[in-house]
Amino acid sequence: MDNDIIPALVQQLYLEKCLDGSRMKLLLGSEFDDDILFNRADDVRRQIYGKDVYLRGLIEFTNFCRNDCLYCGIRRNNRNASRYRLTTEEILACCKEGYSLGYRTFVLQGGEDMYYTDKNICSIVSRIKESYPDCAVTLSIGERSYESYKAYRNAGADRYLLRHETAVDSHYSKLHPAGMSLENRKRCLYYLKELGFQTGSGFMVGSPFQTLDYILADLEFLKELMPDMIGIGPFIPHRDTPFGEYKAGNLRLTLRLISVLRLMFPYALIPSTTALGTIHPLGREMGLRAGANVVMPNLSPVDVREKYALYNDKICTGEESAQCRECLEKRIDAAGYRAVTDIGNVKRI
Ligand code: 5AD
Ligand code: FES
Repeated sequence: MDNDIIPALVQQLYLEKCLDGSRMKLLLGSEFDDDILFNRADDVRRQIYGKDVYLRGLIEFTNFCRNDCLYCGIRRNNRNASRYRLTTEEILACCKEGYSLGYRTFVLQGGEDMYYTDKNICSIVSRIKESYPDCAVTLSIGERSYESYKAYRNAGADRYLLRHETAVDSHYSKLHPAGMSLENRKRCLYYLKELGFQTGSGFMVGSPFQTLDYILADLEFLKELMPDMIGIGPFIPHRDTPFGEYKAGNLRLTLRLISVLRLMFPYALIPSTTALGTIHPLGREMGLRAGANVVMPNLSPVDVREKYALYNDKICTGEESAQCRECLEKRIDAAGYRAVTDIGNVKRI
């Protein structure tokens, strides 16, 4: 392979914020010194966000789920999962601790657990907003109706995370049970945007059956959606799922994709994910250096953390929230960035 072409591809991606399929495949798939790509993504991120890394306190409030996604450890059919739900008071206690640690965004994430009615979710959101009006509340609770999303928005929710997982219909069907569809996923994402949520989407890297062409489709879909936040992380098998024997996603490809996303979406809030930190001890630091600018430390009570196991060997399950906060600050510093306690809204340019 003639590698002289790589700097030209990076430059084109930087200038035009897209690349045609064959060029993107070269950038993702050929052998070259990754720093060419990572450094350019880091330049772009510094131009817009400087050295700032935003912290989002993640509260995993239920691991009950009505869905049965084949990759996910908390899928309904995993009888080995030990299920839990946090009460409103427990969630508020997490926020209280998070606030004192400097977090100004709380991300409420859970399985699709219909035990929490719209009324319940709205009351949790509005109680958090009443207590911490200077904070953003992000929901990550899956597919619900337009009316439900609207109610959450009216209750004060600011942001919503819903990864599309894969933008290829046939691939979506291989990762999800019958009854779930890419079409509905996309519909939900457009509802969220319409309702004025800062919206996040994304996909797993190296999920079973994924090809580079599928990843190109993911990038194309994201271009169409123009989300404010984009979360990607390597697929990691969970032993109690049908994909338990599949291999994990590739670190290098994940990092390259973080850089590509930074160049395509300069303004985006891109987390360096827990999954990235799970497949490599310095994965999150590498993610930041490749262009990510968000980390989502765990704020869930320590006694439930092991139970929110989407995949095996997840990190940060033993640490108290304060330890996690301190650990992350050090890691962010060591990578050459600065943890900030700003609410960290998207900077549209
Ligand atoms: N490996 C990596 N990521 C996973 N997710 C779910 N299961 C796994 C897994 N086994 C991701 C999905 C989901 C997000 C909350 O976690 O992309 O949207
Ligand atoms: Fe959680 Fe290091 S970030 S322990």
